[in-house]
Amino acid sequence: MPASPTIYRTVDDLRAAVAAWRRDGLRVGMVPTMGALHSGHLELVRAARERADRVIVTIFVNPTQFAPNEDFGSYPRTEAGDVAKLTEIGVEAVFAPNANEMYPAGYATTVSLAGPAVGLETDFRPHFFSGVATVVSKLLIAGFPDVALFGEKDYQQLMVLRQMARDLRLPTEIVGLPTIREPDGLALSSRNAYLSAEERQLATTISRVMRKAAGEIQAGAAIEPALSEGRVALEAAGFRVDYLVVRNADTLAELDGSAAEPRRMLVAAWLGKTRLIDNIAV
Ligand code: PAF
Repeated sequence: MPASPTIYRTVDDLRAAVAAWRRDGLRVGMVPTMGALHSGHLELVRAARERADRVIVTIFVNPTQFAPNEDFGSYPRTEAGDVAKLTEIGVEAVFAPNANEMYPAGYATTVSLAGPAVGLETDFRPHFFSGVATVVSKLLIAGFPDVALFGEKDYQQLMVLRQMARDLRLPTEIVGLPTIREPDGLALSSRNAYLSAEERQLATTISRVMRKAAGEIQAGAAIEPALSEGRVALEAAGFRVDYLVVRNADTLAELDGSAAEPRRMLVAAWLGKTRLIDNIAV
């Protein structure tokens, strides 16, 4: 029977554990999550296991990355089940603070962003990346891991966090891992649990539309018409599209038209009350 992780609720307790590991010369990995762990998260944890001697998984549904009209209240909270899954893989620490520990009364400091945080998600969720960057910087400062792992599913988030770690000179390598998908192509997400049976069937359209448009563009088709055909296909399947675009894969800036530029297709679209995001290389 593998050992359960130790659950830390305060920054001070986590720091004391990490300090002891550091004294022993051990390498520390961190996987920040909001819980409701699915196989995508578990792949990140396994990859952390391979890269570090001690692994911390953080579980914190971060209030500052939700707008008042979003799903903070209904976001799935499944700590006992999450800890059981982590026990099976074998991790040393779960950091699961309460909101007051992360945001003490009267807190007034947040991380402000530009660069890859401009546009896309920010056009629709202006509060989002400041909340993510603030909490992730606090988590990284609490645990000072050598490496922290994030999924490419939240591609813009990954680029924002890379830029932040660079700009703040955080001593943590930010590693992104490929999106894990259902057999029909749907990217794993804790929010997939919100989909009705009928919506779940339709949700596969997102990855199908992206793959088709990316294939056409890679074969030489013009980008804008391929994307607008994709938007029409998504709308015909019942989606409301926030964006379907191709951007520079590193900066997320508009394409400059050069052939050598790395490209990423990114999409966000609503199916009923559920907002799905996805992305692939082009
Ligand atoms: O990707 C997530 O689950 C969250 O945005 C993160 C990085 C854990 C910050 O709350």
